[in-house]
Amino acid sequence: MSAAALEVSALAKVFGGLAAVNGVELTVPAGERRVLIGPNGAGKTTLFHCITGTLAPSSGTIALFGRDVTRLPEHRRTALGMGRTFQITNVFPELTMAENLALAILGTDRRKWVMHRSLAAFAAVRRQALEGLERVGLAGRADEPVKRVSYGERRQLELALALNTSPKVLFLDEPCAGLSPAERQRISRMIAGLPRDITLLMIEHDMDVALGLADRVTVLHQGRVILEGTPDEVRANSEVRDVYFGHA
Ligand SMILES: Nc1ncnc2c1ncn2[C@@H]1O[C@H](COP(=O)(O)OP(=O)(O)OP(=O)(O)O)[C@@H](O)[C@H]1O
Ligand SMILES: [Mg+2]
Repeated sequence: MSAAALEVSALAKVFGGLAAVNGVELTVPAGERRVLIGPNGAGKTTLFHCITGTLAPSSGTIALFGRDVTRLPEHRRTALGMGRTFQITNVFPELTMAENLALAILGTDRRKWVMHRSLAAFAAVRRQALEGLERVGLAGRADEPVKRVSYGERRQLELALALNTSPKVLFLDEPCAGLSPAERQRISRMIAGLPRDITLLMIEHDMDVALGLADRVTVLHQGRVILEGTPDEVRANSEVRDVYFGHA
């Protein structure tokens, strides 16, 4: 039997006296689309940060395809196939969409590009950047400075940046937050269209998006997993229904 894409065991993160993540067990098989839901403050983002290496957990372990990565720095986890959306603060607003992605491409393999600083190499980077933009539906916006595109298009750029690292396991924390209904629909369609071999972990507040996309759903509450199941099982659960769908 091959190892799960992700196996989180007894994970905890304590801030001062507060256990934001409190003994989480989470196993996600390769290729699965798992959506994480839970009320505000449930610990979803903290859990993501511990898994991707932004935060050091207080205790517990994280394995990626059977390899313990608990103590690896973030960039090593990225190199092993963990991808996540970058905060938009990491992009250069004066540069165009294509230039931002080109910089990221150069950054992923700096040595190679420094050695081949030829016109042909730059053209290849440009081409790769355009392909990356096209993949997230931004082909027409390549030469627009980031500061002049919509918030929704920035979020699409973030996705292109994440995909640029060729992730095997992709973490998306509320990719539709703050978007208009039309933009939300566009991004969720794009996420649904990602290759099925990318294991996906996504935090999502919009229940229609969450349950429409997920193979399985994990419900977090006060730092603990209170339920895991198929979208139908989650929909039918009375505790979850009370929190999310109002009352029947
Ligand atoms: N850096 C920090 N220092 C102290 N407390 C923190 C820190 N980050 C998060 N917390 C606390 O940990 C708890 C979990 O927060 P977290 O952001 O993980 O929740 P969340 O489920 O992502 O919520 P939301 O749905 O609002 O994004 C909250 O009580 C929060 O105030
Ligand atoms: Mg959060």
